[in-house]
Amino acid sequence: MTRFTGRSAIVTGAARGIGAAYARALAAEGAKVVVADLNAEAGEEVAKEITAAGGTAVFHRVDVSDPESATALAEFTVAEFGGIDHLVNNAAIYGDMKIDLLLTVPWDYYKKFMGVNLDGALNVTRAVWQPMAASGGGSIVNQSSTAAWVYSGFYGLAKVGINGLTQQLAYELGGSKIRINAIAPGPTDTEATRTVTPGSIVKDMVNRIPLKRMGTPDDMVGACLYLLSDDAAWVTGHILNVDGGQVF
Ligand code: NAI
Repeated sequence: MTRFTGRSAIVTGAARGIGAAYARALAAEGAKVVVADLNAEAGEEVAKEITAAGGTAVFHRVDVSDPESATALAEFTVAEFGGIDHLVNNAAIYGDMKIDLLLTVPWDYYKKFMGVNLDGALNVTRAVWQPMAASGGGSIVNQSSTAAWVYSGFYGLAKVGINGLTQQLAYELGGSKIRINAIAPGPTDTEATRTVTPGSIVKDMVNRIPLKRMGTPDDMVGACLYLLSDDAAWVTGHILNVDGGQVF
């Protein structure tokens, strides 16, 4: 018997990177996992890999920025697994560093970006909370970032929003026995960051991190599963930095 035996969990943005690590770890601890992502090809692969390792996982395509798509994800999960116990709002996109200034970013770009990185977490939470409450409660983890504390631009602004949303929703969901917390990873080595962050910036960031290395997706897993699990039964509205000491 493990912490998530018999529980169902949705992980958004689970087709690769940190989200895929969450999906694998939840399945390894007994959860029935919905690998939810825009990217069907990579998401199907993650679900297949989990199944081949003896876990339970299915892929469902979602666009978290679309409320109807979020509702369809919740309905799919209830139909497939009989309810929703856990949600990880992990999906996000990285901004174009070249236009990452609030005074000059084109409105269309800004709205699309916030639609995924901020509204996405709210859309999926609004879609799942009633089925979660109906089966006695549950827990949610939002993916923030230390960018909320150390970096401006609209990527950081969206993560400040995630922190505020986490704390406000902790009030709103507490009465339904739903806990909601956030993880704020420091710089983490994923396919995405390898593409968007130049090597010189990585070197500089690592120099300023007390533990002198980037994080890995597996570094995030322990914190996420702790906050989702009953081990954190009296923890809600908390933002947990997992960052090698980058921010303290
Ligand atoms: P990634 O780019 O590897 O994975 C993100 C996933 O989200 C992709 O599979 C992508 O297809 C999916 N996605 C994008 N838009 C979507 C949408 N509209 N609907 C559904 N799925 C969508 O990213 P990574 O690096 O694994 O980061 C995961 C999370 O962790 C993000 O929230 C990111 O902001 C956060 N984070 C990452 C850090 C890092 O250094 N890698 C540091 C701090 C936070």
